[in-house]
Amino acid sequence: MAASPVRPAPVAAVAAPPLLVFPRIAAGHLRRDQDLTVTELRAVLDLAHAVKAKPQDYRHALAGQYLALMFEKPSLRTRLTFELAIQQLGGGSVSQVGPIGEREPVKDIARNLERWVNGIIARTFLQETVDGLAEWSDVPVVNALSDLYHPCQILADLQTVEERFGRIKGIKVAFIGDGNNVAHSLMLAGPRLGMHFALGHPVGYEPDDAVVAEAKKLAAPGAKIKITTDPEEAVHGADAVYTDVWASMGQEHEAFERIKHFEPYRVDEALVAKAKPKAVFMHCLPAKRGQETTDAVMESKQSIVFQEAENRLHAQKALLLMLLAGQGAQRK
Ligand code: CP
Ligand code: NVA
Repeated sequence: MAASPVRPAPVAAVAAPPLLVFPRIAAGHLRRDQDLTVTELRAVLDLAHAVKAKPQDYRHALAGQYLALMFEKPSLRTRLTFELAIQQLGGGSVSQVGPIGEREPVKDIARNLERWVNGIIARTFLQETVDGLAEWSDVPVVNALSDLYHPCQILADLQTVEERFGRIKGIKVAFIGDGNNVAHSLMLAGPRLGMHFALGHPVGYEPDDAVVAEAKKLAAPGAKIKITTDPEEAVHGADAVYTDVWASMGQEHEAFERIKHFEPYRVDEALVAKAKPKAVFMHCLPAKRGQETTDAVMESKQSIVFQEAENRLHAQKALLLMLLAGQGAQRK
């Protein structure tokens, strides 16, 4: 009788790590809010919620990837949350604080960095510096705040609004203050997902006309965008009242002059009371208590400013995953 064939012992099943597949950002950069299509914006937020719920699932997603953080201006939240996000996703980073484009041209800096790292995160004075880095680098460039935009902040803010209200569509956010970077990004991103936006700004501190026109063009059907110099009109019916410093980084020399224009725009308890009864208070931070807002508002139950700050970490993880994970550096 023929010997029965010797069968190899069954190999114990070894669970392969889950294959993580992320939607890609077609523009390959986040230079400004419009670089995300509405589908990509929705996907970043969905991923931000998922990453926040189960951070451990993503701890190797950026293994072997390195980013350069180039900051011309100070930062607490943006810089530290990017550094933490990269580390917690298994990647690494290097950073430099100082002017970009003074010691050598931006186009030369970009072509150095792209040979060392898989992505560049830049906080700049001028939007043209972000655009120049993106134009000359083959790796993704992320705007970590410029004079015109702060798209990373708004990703976290929209995540926070969604956590608080369960939706973005139909929620009214009133921004009171300077019509610059944070206001621009909020009006460009939120209304695309159906959020209503109102800006109450002092005369002389209007938002950029081209940005307003673009925001109106991109807004979802039914999403309203209102620009006014009347802060009470702006907060009427608002679910969230948002403010920012009166003098942005680089404008410190204007701080004294600005006070007289911005005083009527302070977000104090009386102004918040003119919004909806359950309205929340939002601020990108850092806040100057006694100027754009008060200690009472910052510390009130309605204040969700630290939840916004927390979500910077999660939203930026989602952004990095969609720009970088799985396929190495984005090549143009
Ligand atoms: N909100 C924000 O961008 O904070 P930092 O300036 O501390 O990064
Ligand atoms: N508008 C502010 C935002 C800081 C996060 C600035 O540009 O300084």
